[in-house]
This record gives sequence, C-alpha cells and structure tokens, in this order.
Amino acid sequence: MSAFRTLDNADLKGKRALVRVDLNVPMENGRITDATRIERVLPTIREIADKGGRVVLLAHFGRPKGRDPKETLRPVGEALAQHLGKPVAFAEDCIGEAAREAVSAMKDGDVLLLENTRFHAGEEKNDPAFVSELAKLGDLYVNDAFSAAHRAHASTEGLARVLPGFAGRTMQAELDALTKGLEAPTRPVVAVVGGAKVSTKLDLLENLVAKVDALVIGGGMANTFIHAMGLEVGKSLAERDLAETALRIIAKARDTGCAIILPVDGVCATEFKAGAENHTYGIDAIPEDRMILDVGSQSIERIMAAINDAATLVWNGPLGAFEIPPFDQGTVAAARHAAQRTKEGKLVSVAGGGDTVAALNHAGVADDFTYVSTAGGAFLEWLEGKALPGVEALRA
Ligand code: 3PG
Ligand code: MG
Repeated sequence: MSAFRTLDNADLKGKRALVRVDLNVPMENGRITDATRIERVLPTIREIADKGGRVVLLAHFGRPKGRDPKETLRPVGEALAQHLGKPVAFAEDCIGEAAREAVSAMKDGDVLLLENTRFHAGEEKNDPAFVSELAKLGDLYVNDAFSAAHRAHASTEGLARVLPGFAGRTMQAELDALTKGLEAPTRPVVAVVGGAKVSTKLDLLENLVAKVDALVIGGGMANTFIHAMGLEVGKSLAERDLAETALRIIAKARDTGCAIILPVDGVCATEFKAGAENHTYGIDAIPEDRMILDVGSQSIERIMAAINDAATLVWNGPLGAFEIPPFDQGTVAAARHAAQRTKEGKLVSVAGGGDTVAALNHAGVADDFTYVSTAGGAFLEWLEGKALPGVEALRA
C-alpha cells in the first residue's frame, strides 16, 4: 500500500477533487437493485467533503455508444444523495460549459456528479484532448473505482497522468485486501475457483497454480477437468475440446507443487431446474443421462478440510448451480465454513466477481469474509496476475 498516495497525503481544503467512482449499479425499470457500489464510495466522498474539499464525481454507466438518455447517471445521483444524506448536484455533461458552470458554483464541502463519461468517445479512447478537458475541472485526482481499474480510460487512467493522483479509501481497502490475498499472503493459500467455463478463466487458473498452495476447482469448469481425466460426465456442462488445456494445467500444478482438489462426487439431475429430482454419485460413476449440478457431500468435506489447512483463501466463482436450489448446497456450505474460520481469526478470506458476491449473499456470509470485492472484470484480471492500468497509473 505504501506505493500509493492516499487521502492521508492529499491537501484537500478548498480544492476541487475529481473523484472517479464506480456507480455502474444494476438497474431494473429505473430502480437500483443493488446499491453496494454506492455504499462503497461514501467514505471517500464524506472524507473529502469533511476536509473542505469540493467533490466532483466522475463515473460511467453502462456501455453507451455516444450520448444516450437511457444511460444517464441522473437517477444514480439521486440515490447517492439519499445514501450520503446531503445534496448531490448534477451536471448534464462531464466536460464543457455545463460542467464548468456546475463546478464553479461549488462551495467547500459540496458534492457534484457529472454525467456519464462514456457519452464521449474520448473516454474509452483515453484521448489526451478529452483528458485535458476533464482535468480543467479539478486540482487533484482521486481514484476510488478499483472495479473499473482494468480499463485504461481517460477517467480511470489518463487523469492520473496529468493531475496529482491519490487512491480513495475504497481503492485503498481493495488494494490492501488483494495484497493480503495473493501478492504477500500468509501461507498456505488456497484458491477456490468455480463457475461455468474453463475457457473464460484459463489465464486465471494458470496464474493461480503458480501462486497458491492448493486450488479447489468446482462448478461447471470442474467437469471439463473430470472429462479430461477420462471420466464420464454424462450430460454435464463441460468443454470437451479443452481436455488438453485442462491436462496442461494439472501438469503445471504438479510442477509448482500446487495441490488440485477436484470433486470426488457430484449431485446429479436429469434437468437443469430448481427442485429437480437428484442423486449423488461418485465422480467415476456419473450416469450418461445425468448432469452434475453441484459438488457432493464428500467433496464438500474435502473442500472444508482444504480451507482448514489454509491461512488465506481467495475465492472466485460458485461451486454448483447455486441459483437453483438444492444445487446451492456445496457453495453455501463452503462459504459458511470459510466465513466461520474467518470469524475465528484463522483465515484471511478475499472473494470477488459478480456471481461470487451473489453466491456469498445467498449464503448470508458476504459480511463475514475479510474482504468482498464488488469488481467483476478487474478482480478477474488481478487474479490473472495482470497489471491494472488504473492502479498502475496511481503508482506512477
Ligand atoms: C463493471 O461493472 O464491471 C465496471 O463498472 C466496469 O464496467 P465495464 O465492464 O463496462 O468497463
Ligand atoms: Mg462489467
């Protein structure tokens, strides 16, 4: 963490702070369905405002191609004001006249949200001309959007190159947790990786087998490994064409001394449906007409034992089809066990990724993990061992 300047080092009184936040919250019919990201940015906003700074918020919403009223940040600004308990002004544009006027009307401690940065092509292109238009609006730059830090965009990367840059409190907490999780962890480290496909997590698996002491593989992607080992997976989701890749990862793990823990039994059904009639089979006895939808009880025991052996846990992806009970049991049991070990002070647990957060919330334990990242792509790229442009720019 010492490599980054934080708000501790920033002189904020009377200054215009351009603060990049991630307000890309899920919305259905104009209603925010999960306000976690809004809650996460409150500490940084409050701290800057309390120290007499003027908080100018920059954020994207959705993936618009040009200005699109459907992807305005205005309703998000209203929700932010409610959470913050104070007014949040809104400017119709993030650069130009509208933005300039709104910023110059600010007093110390005020908060202003600028319209969706992605309404301008210069944002995603990280266009220097757009960066300098944004930069005119601030005296300093604070990045509190780890979850957008895998993007080298004007507001996530470019600005840190032209204004004094600082990590916001959420960014700081995130970097701190990730460092404890994988960069400088207390060993042994166990990684739990689940989810549907090996193909979307190849780089991640390759990186993890080089870094962790044990890798638990669950979810649909475990079937790809099981099939690669020559076993029957029936009608299960499996990437049969990735057998060689799976075997290469197993071989690499053998070389690096990383134990790979695959399911030894599976809860199977004939259809992918909540409440489907099901039965548990040993992994070498999966019937041809069935699909594996969750890890079985013996697998759960092995996963819990692996967690017991670990001092640090990194988790991404559910172990089964947790969205259709009863195939949520493996994920729920392992999550609760990890939460318990964390509460007992025996485990540092770091989890992230969209489905993972949903799964931990479903298990009711998201608050009991050491850290749960709201980042999707950025968390994955970090697990892949990639440098994140938004983070690197702050380091500079
Ligand atoms: C996210 O929702 O994962 C972040 O806000 C980044 O959004 P993006 O994937 O559209 O860049
Ligand atoms: Mg996304």
